[in-house]
Amino acid sequence: MPSAETAESGRSALPRSGGGPDAPRPAAHPDSIPGWFFRLDQEAFRHLLTAQSEAGRTGDILELGSYLGRSAVLLGDHLRPGERLTVCDLFDSEAGDADNDAEMSMSYRSSLTRRGFEANYLAFHPELPTIVQAPTSVLADGRVPDGSCRFVHVDASHLYEHVAGDIEVARKALAEDGLVALDDYRSEHTPGVSAAVWQAVFTGGLRPVLLTPMKFYGTWGDPEPVREVLLTRDWRAEGFTVDEDAIAGLRVLRLNNAARPAAPRSGPRRLLLDLLPPAATRALRRGLRTLRERGGAGGRGR
Ligand SMILES: C[S@@+](CC[C@H](N)C(=O)[O-])C[C@H]1O[C@@H](n2cnc3c(N)ncnc32)[C@H](O)[C@@H]1O
Repeated sequence: MPSAETAESGRSALPRSGGGPDAPRPAAHPDSIPGWFFRLDQEAFRHLLTAQSEAGRTGDILELGSYLGRSAVLLGDHLRPGERLTVCDLFDSEAGDADNDAEMSMSYRSSLTRRGFEANYLAFHPELPTIVQAPTSVLADGRVPDGSCRFVHVDASHLYEHVAGDIEVARKALAEDGLVALDDYRSEHTPGVSAAVWQAVFTGGLRPVLLTPMKFYGTWGDPEPVREVLLTRDWRAEGFTVDEDAIAGLRVLRLNNAARPAAPRSGPRRLLLDLLPPAATRALRRGLRTLRERGGAGGRGR
């Protein structure tokens, strides 16, 4: 594994990965970049980042876990002059422990290269972000100045020990009114993320502001202005549902995709559902529901 120092590059320190016969083919549209960043969270990111800029809040943006750039490209869209995007990912280097290595092999290794990330990013932006190709734990060394960020996206390892560390990195990196988005806080296959997120809420002062099916949004500052900013938008008119909950006295908004009216079943689909044994029918229905929940945009299982 390259050391964190040798693997890090500033925006212009690396040549573009454009040329050469083995150059990865960049995506034609941000939504065609493989990844797990869907319309509802794209809109939430756009809304929150735009509102910060309109309110005159400046600060850097940090992403832990970028894969092939699907979410990083959108984060880069929101950089204002003088702001910096830093992304940290293992890309094609080795993980520091066996469990993380198994996670990498199962979900990312076959498709992920740093060159692929760079090609996708440069298809939509003139310069690369600052790239830290290393385990996210290196960020605890203070290379991201305390209080320098306005938005942090945590979407790297799903293992409890890693996520708890990533949340601590986010806490230190964020300015007082900064926002953190934590991916996969409630998925069946990521109990370690749930544990780390709710631990941060109940023992670490993290306040939830928004929950979507995929992400938890919170702040260590005052959640009320963020709530107000979210409520300025007519989400329902755009095909989303908006609900409010209270968790141990903490008010939180929930956004989801509105259910579409059930489409009449096609002949082959009805026949398949009728013929399958009940357990398989339930699994198929669950799969279709997950696809619908994720907005169906280029998603793949993790
Ligand atoms: C779910 S993907 C990120 C998806 C991306 N944010 C998107 O929206 O498409 C998780 C990423 O975390 C990276 N990763 C996993 N463990 C890591 C670790 N310990 N340190 C840094 N990156 C890690 C993987 O290489 C992978 O690219």
